[in-house]
Amino acid sequence: MSTGLTWATAHRQSIEHPAAFWGEAAEAIDWTKRWSRVLDDSRPPFYRWFPGAELNTCHNCVDRHVEAGRGGQPAIIYDSPVTQTIRHISYSELRDQVALFAGVLAAQGVAKGDRVIIYMPMIPETLVAMLACARLGAVHSVVFGGFASRELTSRIDDAKPKVVVSASCGVEVTKILPYKPLLDEAIELSQAKPACCIILQREMEPARMIAGRDIDWQVAMQTAKPHDCVPVQATDPLYILYTSGTTGQPKGVVRDNGGHAVALRWTMANLYGVQPGEVFWSASDVGWVVGHSYIVYAPLLTGCTTIVYEGKPVGTPDAGAFWRVIEQHKVSVLFTAPTAFRAIKRDDPEAKLLHKYDLSSLRALFLAGERSDPPTLEWAEHHLKVPVIDHWWQTETGWGIAGNCLGLEHLPVKHGSPTKPVPGWDVRVMDEGGHEAKAGEIGSLVCRLPLPPGSLPTLWQAEDRYFKSYLEQFPGYYLTADAGYIDEDGYVFVMARTDDIINVAGHRLSTGGMEEVLARHPDVAECAVIGVHDEVKGQVPLGFLVLKAGSSKPHEEIASEAVKLVRDRIGPVASFKTATVVHRLPKTRSGKVLRGTMQKIADSKPYKMPATIDDPMILDEIKAALQKIGYAREA
Ligand code: COA
Ligand code: AMP
Repeated sequence: MSTGLTWATAHRQSIEHPAAFWGEAAEAIDWTKRWSRVLDDSRPPFYRWFPGAELNTCHNCVDRHVEAGRGGQPAIIYDSPVTQTIRHISYSELRDQVALFAGVLAAQGVAKGDRVIIYMPMIPETLVAMLACARLGAVHSVVFGGFASRELTSRIDDAKPKVVVSASCGVEVTKILPYKPLLDEAIELSQAKPACCIILQREMEPARMIAGRDIDWQVAMQTAKPHDCVPVQATDPLYILYTSGTTGQPKGVVRDNGGHAVALRWTMANLYGVQPGEVFWSASDVGWVVGHSYIVYAPLLTGCTTIVYEGKPVGTPDAGAFWRVIEQHKVSVLFTAPTAFRAIKRDDPEAKLLHKYDLSSLRALFLAGERSDPPTLEWAEHHLKVPVIDHWWQTETGWGIAGNCLGLEHLPVKHGSPTKPVPGWDVRVMDEGGHEAKAGEIGSLVCRLPLPPGSLPTLWQAEDRYFKSYLEQFPGYYLTADAGYIDEDGYVFVMARTDDIINVAGHRLSTGGMEEVLARHPDVAECAVIGVHDEVKGQVPLGFLVLKAGSSKPHEEIASEAVKLVRDRIGPVASFKTATVVHRLPKTRSGKVLRGTMQKIADSKPYKMPATIDDPMILDEIKAALQKIGYAREA
């Protein structure tokens, strides 16, 4: 499957002749019907890949490997230090379980095009549920377990699922987190109640079932009839994955079947340099795009063994957890977020635990989800002694926009840069006027259309929002909402988001969404949330509250109520732990809150007094408030 091309040749071919390039890559996928053309470019700026073609993603992930003789190979290794479990699931077993669970869903009326919400922890059954949806041509929408019930409600209301699949609980290190009460509450609050919920009962905390609505996973599997793969159009949706937008209303990123399969299969060989039969470990969560693409679909499309790890990099039991997994399961390539390595480095700075394990199977470490800070990257390089590759991507793109394509050639690494655009991605930098910036000049990072296969064709039932969010500002280009530059050697540098999204432990969160929640507090007149530097998580949110005139509650009490409100409404994943009361917020004369300046003050970075500031004195008040809670330290 590896093309044998250099990066430069592959990239040039992909940009100059995208149809020929991706048409060739598509030969690695099993189709039940070939495409009428590779790229439909008849309706710019909306493009579709492989129109007219038909396939089934589950067949390509599971059945075809059994038919090709891989039935005995582990498809999934479930490694759960939090439940002391290690379980190998072969491709044959996976096929049987997925076919049966597809039968369970079909018995509840789920068919091609129907939506199914999956709200589950890091267990193999989550993958079984996703693949069973794909088998039926149904559209799954996985919701990360760390979200609160209201976030789940907004996804239920938008996706209108026929069925919700969930588990009784998750396990976070030593805490048992009941999922079912959150699900019940979410459904109670929702306008689009699903007819049925299928619940996997976990023995550490079985859930109370609601008669007439809830079905026990195990019981249903006992009587289910296996269901065959249903061919779907390449352009039909495989899944919706909600991600943070600039408001509390998340964006439903749609992924299609055909382009997705082609692109992900191509990346395994050419970006990650991984071959069928190898063990690939993405230490993320299935609730995020990294989990969708590189825990589930890409490794299985390739016939690899994927690891489902229900644990943390530290604390389960210690900072040697990753090394133990690599040694025990002979992992070839590890993919995780830099935050995981910062956590390991914090607990074991000398990497003493690492040297206790045999890591000879490991060929490369890939990092993404946030900027790889050079000290963390160097620490990993020094101790692992394998290439450490930063690569840049987004929920929307589904796979890497820029990276070092080890399957093509290992380009020299520049710390702080995710290297060069991956074939398929024509990355440019624009100034505010829509002119291309010179090498080294910072501007908006954009990608020339058409985007390659596997990237988002639209937002779920919101084509207008899709157009406005991504395509309107620079006609002919996709707006990444990241700022950065490309240097004279063509290396991409990603510096910061241009919107109000922050990155907390590799998780994407909207400060605007948190502000909407804080504004609901009865004593809060105005508020602002910014992302401040954190040693391990990269950033954490921090809230500023301006109280209504006449509010008489102690400030500490209001601040802790505000923290609880965000946890209850958005979820623990927000890591919103600090709020502080201030008299007023710094604003421009037109009333825009100066969040960027507040962030620089909090992080003790130099800042320029904004020319349009209404009252410069307010910045001193903000600094004093920040110093009281341990930020804005003098250099
Ligand atoms: N279900 C329920 N709750 C969850 C959850 C889940 N699936 N995942 C996280 N949470 C909770 C955590 O328990 C924590 O709750 P707390 O405030 O009660 O302690 C909160 O959400 C924040 O979680 P997180 O940001 O992950 O912080 P952490 O301290 O538990 O762990 C890291 C920090 C760095 C170790 C962890 O984020 C990590 O391993 N990250 C690297 C891998 C990764 O997630 N990558 C994502 C994109 S590639
Ligand atoms: P998500 O959609 O959750 O994957 O988050 C996408 C955002 O994370 C991007 O828009 C970037 O801001 C950031 N990001 C992801 N990977 C990188 C990287 N390698 N370098 C810098 N920022 C990154």
